[in-house]
Amino acid sequence: MAELIVALDVQTREEAVAQVKRIGDPVGFYKIGLELFTAEGPDVVKAVKDLGKKVFLDLKFHDIPRTVERAVRSGGKLGVDLMTIHSVGGRAMIRAAADAAAEFGEVRPRILAVTVLTSLDKTDLVDVGIVGRTPAEQVAAMACFATENGADGIVSSPMEVGALSRALKSGTLFVTPGVRPAGSAVGDQKRVATPADAVRDGATHLVVGRPILDAPDPTAAARTILAEMGA
Ligand code: C5P
Repeated sequence: MAELIVALDVQTREEAVAQVKRIGDPVGFYKIGLELFTAEGPDVVKAVKDLGKKVFLDLKFHDIPRTVERAVRSGGKLGVDLMTIHSVGGRAMIRAAADAAAEFGEVRPRILAVTVLTSLDKTDLVDVGIVGRTPAEQVAAMACFATENGADGIVSSPMEVGALSRALKSGTLFVTPGVRPAGSAVGDQKRVATPADAVRDGATHLVVGRPILDAPDPTAAARTILAEMGA
C-alpha cells in the first residue's frame, strides 16, 4: 500500500507543528527539507516525531563517505525514517550511507538516492561532464547504480517511475513528488501525475505539498488524495 508524505514546506518549527496538527490523523508521514531544517535543525524533526509521525529528512547528502556515514548515523539517532543522498556521490558514499543506516536494524532510516535533479536538462548535464547520455538515460543508469550499491529506493518524477519500477528489483522504494489530484492547481510543477496514476505506475510513496498545505480544509484534501491512491 503506497503511503502519502506531506512536504512541510514552511519556515519555522511552530508552523510545522501547527500544520501537522491541523492535518491530523489521515497523514502519518512528513518531509522536512533544506529550508526548514536549516532554519530549525534537529528540533523540528524531534517535534514531528513527538507528534507520532514518520519523518522523511530530505537533505540530499553528497560528500565524502565518512561524512555521509556520520550524517546518516545522526539521522538514525533522531529516528528519521527516510533520508536522501545524491547517487553521483559514488559507490563508496552510497555504501557508507547504507551501512550507517543498517546499524539501526528494523527501525533504520531507508536511504533514497536522487538520480538527476528535475531542474537539469541535457545542456546542464553536458556542463558537468555527462555527455553521452540523455537525462532519461542518466536517471535509469544512476537508479540501477544506487540500488545495486545499497540504496533502498529512488526519488523520481512520476513520469519515470513506471520504467524504473519495471527495471529495478522488487522491494525498491519509489518516492515521487510532482503529484496533483485530478483538477487541482499545478503551481510551478511542469510534469505532474495524479495520485492514482503514480501508484499504478509503481510509486510506493507520494510527496504532496501545496495541494494539502494550501487547501482550505487540509484534512479533507489529504483524505481525497488517499482515496485516489486507494490507500
Ligand atoms: O507543493 P508540491 O506538491 O509541489 O511540493 C512537492 C515537494 O517535493 C516540494 O518539497 C519539492 O521541493 C519536492 N520536490 C519536487 N520535485 C523534485 C524534487 C523534490 O517537487 N524533483
